[in-house]
Amino acid sequence: MSRFFSRRFDSLAAYTPGEQPQDQNYIKLNTNESPFEPSPKVIEALNNSEVAKLRLYSDPECKLTVKAIADYYGVESKNVVLGNGSDEILSFIFQAFCDKDTPVAYPDISYGFYSVFAQLYGLESHVIPLKEDYSIDVDDYCGIGKTVIIANPNAPTGIALSLADIEKILVSNPDNVVVVDEAYVDFGADSAVNLTRKYDNLIVVQTFSKSRQLAGARLGFAVANEDIITDLNTIRFSTNPYNINRLTLLAGEAAINDKDYFENTRAKIIANREYTALELKKRGFRVLDSKTNFLFAAHNTAGGEMLYKALKADGILVRYFNKPRLSDFLRITIGTREQMDALLTSLDKILSGKDDNDA
Ligand SMILES: Cc1ncc(COP(=O)(O)O)c(C=O)c1O
Repeated sequence: MSRFFSRRFDSLAAYTPGEQPQDQNYIKLNTNESPFEPSPKVIEALNNSEVAKLRLYSDPECKLTVKAIADYYGVESKNVVLGNGSDEILSFIFQAFCDKDTPVAYPDISYGFYSVFAQLYGLESHVIPLKEDYSIDVDDYCGIGKTVIIANPNAPTGIALSLADIEKILVSNPDNVVVVDEAYVDFGADSAVNLTRKYDNLIVVQTFSKSRQLAGARLGFAVANEDIITDLNTIRFSTNPYNINRLTLLAGEAAINDKDYFENTRAKIIANREYTALELKKRGFRVLDSKTNFLFAAHNTAGGEMLYKALKADGILVRYFNKPRLSDFLRITIGTREQMDALLTSLDKILSGKDDNDA
């Protein structure tokens, strides 16, 4: 830290992203990306003539991409705003709808960026423990009178709430914003997007990073009523009006329009998830009920850290959280069937090695 860094960041603990080795030597199951390439239509859209246009600024209103997303979800363009990844949307939300009079409430086990943004913007956080079974107790959020942020399905647990539960939280907090972070919703949970027509306090946040193969392009969005979108645009235009670059705008539009590719790839991920969950259970893992593109699994004898390290030594990267209640678990991104089989083979080797040593 330099001597010039503002004192207000003295205790800020920045977000630590998952490992991103650039050499491609690992089977990468650690940051919930898609194992599939972007849609061929995306690759076609990113042509030389668009590259030549990089000398010009991108459309600050992101018109065509916003319209494509709005059409897809049956809302209007005025109900959609784009971010440089959903992380940026979340950052805009924390700035727009939280302050010293309006603290923020979120689960103790959830996406790590929520607490980072709360610290960054000097907000008071109400951190609510998950239940013993790692699920969210909806009653904890009813009538809470704070800005609520819930990932649905939650990460890293993978567990989803029903829309009825989300609605309960919305109805009981009419004067507060409720944010539903649906980064993983396409893999089996119900989206609350349609509820944005009914509730003016709901913001649904989604990303192109997981189910649309564009993590590296950085594209996320929020759907909400027009006034909330106007507020988010006020923050966006006060931060970076050209937050989405030309190539990403085109890639996003092509990706959302290629429904077949989306359906096809997500069906494969869901099938591979169910297969892997079953195989892990056969090997002595407790696997939480996932509606995402990852599994959160703990072995009944082998520790999480040991497994993480041994898998890494074997060329397979998964995510390990050295934190209370999480340290027995591995978070395993769902890849191709071949990648999942490689994981299972490696686990068999590690677990039998462990048994040998123990004997
Ligand atoms: C729950 C959740 N929300 C948001 C994000 C951010 O995704 P992105 O900024 O790539 O859109 C992630 C990324 O892993 C996540 O797990």
